[in-house]
Amino acid sequence: MGLLDDKVALVTGAGGGLGRSHAMLLASHGAAVVVNDLGGSRDGTGAGSSMADKVVGEIKAAGGRAVANYGSVTNEADAKAMVKTAVDSFGRIDIVVNNAGILRDKSFKNISNEEWDLVVDVHLRGSYLVTKAAWDQMLAQGQGGRIINTSSTSGLIGNFGQANYGAAKAGVAGMTRVLALEGMKYGITVNTLAPAAFSRMTEDIMPEGVEERLAPEKVSPIVAWLCTDDAKDVTGRQFCAGGNRVTLLSWQVTDIATDRDGMDAPWTVEELGEKIAASKPNWPKLLKPMEV
Ligand code: NAI
Repeated sequence: MGLLDDKVALVTGAGGGLGRSHAMLLASHGAAVVVNDLGGSRDGTGAGSSMADKVVGEIKAAGGRAVANYGSVTNEADAKAMVKTAVDSFGRIDIVVNNAGILRDKSFKNISNEEWDLVVDVHLRGSYLVTKAAWDQMLAQGQGGRIINTSSTSGLIGNFGQANYGAAKAGVAGMTRVLALEGMKYGITVNTLAPAAFSRMTEDIMPEGVEERLAPEKVSPIVAWLCTDDAKDVTGRQFCAGGNRVTLLSWQVTDIATDRDGMDAPWTVEELGEKIAASKPNWPKLLKPMEV
């Protein structure tokens, strides 16, 4: 008995890196998987079928069930077709892992509108389009579902040279928090993953010698667990995962000025300045991406 027997999953960008690892782990626990990948290069140019086909072959060779899809998450018809592929091939859809992604890193000084738009389109609009198509099908099925959206510490915390990517990934996390609330009454959980893994995307950014320590396979267990029945009450959370370390990234609220001694008139700027000076030593420090 697998933990995900009878479940049907769609993993976008599953032709390599983290997506491949997620797809293979889900399949090894019994899920039937739609392996989507546009098959292009790291910056989003090009397309091809070989990446998705290869992973489908690997899943089948290991005794699992999988079908390939070569669509782009940025295209509405393609996004709908990914969900249709799940329904036509395996009868339903229970799990979506929005994982597809590209990079166009530039300092803000040098970024072009095209570099902004492309990255926001794939990560944010792509996650929206695929989730929307799956959401409609999950509601029609009436048996809940699981959505895992891939964000990044670049969006949740910040990272130099990634204004486009960070904005898109923060948007993904914002959509996740809203959908977690909207999904509650339908039994659909929606969570955020901020991974760290050695992959095509990060091979020239990460220091040498981390390939094994930060293997994508060390991120996937939290994704698979979130898809199990045990995780039915876990929603709206942000999980950071990499190198076998899994952390929960949460909000912290720090009081600065609560009420103005019962007075209705607004704080004066000077008064508020004094409150800020008094509370500042208690502010949480600004995290750096490597600290979570
Ligand atoms: P990767 O480059 O190996 O995988 C991304 C996959 O998405 C590729 O196979 C690519 O062909 C596919 N893809 C790109 N555009 C697509 C589109 N329009 N439609 C369908 N598929 C498309 O990179 P990696 O590292 O596996 O990244 C997976 C996800 O994790 C991405 O969303 C990335 O932003 C995120 N991430 C990765 C981190 C890391 O340390 N590797 C850190 C933080 C976030």
